Amino acid sequence: MSSKIYSAATIGLDGEVVEVEVDVLGAGLHNFNIVGLPDTAIKESRDRVSSAIKNSGFKPPHQCGRITVNLAPADLPKASPIYDLPVAVGFLLATKQIQFDFTNKMIVGELSLDGRVRSIHGTLPIALLAKEKGFRELYVPAENAAEASVVKGINIVPVDTLYSLIDHFSGARHISYFPSIDGDILFSPGEYLIDMSHIKGQQHAKRALEIAAAGGHNVLLNGPPGSGKTLLAKAMPTILPQLTLAESLEITKIFSVAGKLRKGQSLVTSRPYRNPHHSASSVALVGGGTYPKPGEISLAHRGVLFLDEFAEFPKSVLENLRQPLEDGMITISRAKGSLYFPARFILVAAMNPCFCGNATDPEKICTCTQAQVVRYKQKISGPIMDRIDLHIEVPRLSFDKLQENGNEEKSEQIRARVESARKIQAERFADLPLVSNSEMSSDQIRQFCHLNDECQQLLRSAVSALKLSARGYHRIIKIARTIADLSKSENIQQAHIAEAIQYRFKTE
Ligand SMILES: Nc1ncnc2c1ncn2[C@@H]1O[C@H](COP(=O)(O)OP(=O)(O)OP(=O)(O)O)[C@@H](O)[C@H]1O
Ligand SMILES: [Mg+2]
Repeated sequence: MSSKIYSAATIGLDGEVVEVEVDVLGAGLHNFNIVGLPDTAIKESRDRVSSAIKNSGFKPPHQCGRITVNLAPADLPKASPIYDLPVAVGFLLATKQIQFDFTNKMIVGELSLDGRVRSIHGTLPIALLAKEKGFRELYVPAENAAEASVVKGINIVPVDTLYSLIDHFSGARHISYFPSIDGDILFSPGEYLIDMSHIKGQQHAKRALEIAAAGGHNVLLNGPPGSGKTLLAKAMPTILPQLTLAESLEITKIFSVAGKLRKGQSLVTSRPYRNPHHSASSVALVGGGTYPKPGEISLAHRGVLFLDEFAEFPKSVLENLRQPLEDGMITISRAKGSLYFPARFILVAAMNPCFCGNATDPEKICTCTQAQVVRYKQKISGPIMDRIDLHIEVPRLSFDKLQENGNEEKSEQIRARVESARKIQAERFADLPLVSNSEMSSDQIRQFCHLNDECQQLLRSAVSALKLSARGYHRIIKIARTIADLSKSENIQQAHIAEAIQYRFKTE
């Protein structure tokens, strides 16, 4: 007596079909074995499945002799407890306790001892896989049904208990398909406590954040303690453009695999804002682990990664950002090939200029020695600094400025300009997989950023005066393209290049 049920595994952000084969040999001593590269969570599955079957009122495995479960393909590592439900169903089928046609059906779900079905990670990639492979029905934990229902063209069956699933198979009580989510879902800019209008002055920094949001560029805010760097970074999400459906699906897939979706959430509808502490480990920041999971940089994909107290992050952790800051993704090497997670985020970093924090304050005395100031700066390596496009000084505000009852611009107004600059970029890159100017390669820079003689002249002198790297040169042009888009100018003008140059890191 044997059975075969289809289930799935997630490798990185992609799903793969797994066949759950159950063979029951009625005679002999009881033995329940799971083979096919299972990890401990799956080995423990035997106990969960046995109890869930018994507590749902069926004949449990220990009364059925020798049972062997094979998870195929055997060379694919299986990491999560999502095979509990298919193993239980396969066992009931193999022991002829239920009968049902399982062709074109895929089942995933973890079981609790009393037979309830628990939520799992990675439902969205599994639903995309099931659709791509032509399955007609996908059985998922009820809590994950909303997430799966984003995928059109496959029927989602929400399962809350093993018992109700068996009732469904026997025809005693039918479970209806989960309604599919409307594609025209309303995206929101999110709800935030801080608005740009709450922040007094700091026009220079606000302008830089606007450019960063419009073109997807990286920013470093540098200034004395209490000048408002953290405040400015916290207000950044309020000026980001709204998500498109395609971007939302990309982000939701990452959140789904990392198990970060809220209960019943179908799509991530506002841009991510991740703010990991400087004590975070490399794996927490960039992802990885025995069974690789996305880290903070991937959870910040298409949103903002805010690294406050930038200089306090261990150098070894920061150096891991070099590849993702350049390629927009992180490659994780494993024993069996490598996999990648997308990580196209806007980096907003904030730091003090030295240990005491007053090196750049004209009115306060810096108590650090020259050597200490240099050592503090050296905490961030040159290659990391080179990848940051906008270097901004955030000065301490004077009493008058703080008292001013000026009409600061609202986030809403800034966001409107950012949105229209993004629209221009969407038209520019209509036939390309790019979203913003920051993603252009050097070929694309040549194609989309025509520079007249004046601009070339200015750039030439900047390259020699600032001793710019090739990367620095390209990054200035990309920033200038964004500044031109913000002012709705078709061509890059000299003034746009000039503004872009002043944001560049100066290597004194
Ligand atoms: N421009 C500003 N407008 C209004 N309030 C401000 C401004 N700048 C700073 N503040 C006030 O000062 C507090 C401290 O600001 P914030 O935490 O952003 O400083 P910081 O530059 O990050 O300092 P540190 O270097 O110590 O981290 C804020 O919570 C806010 O109340
Ligand atoms: Mg701060």
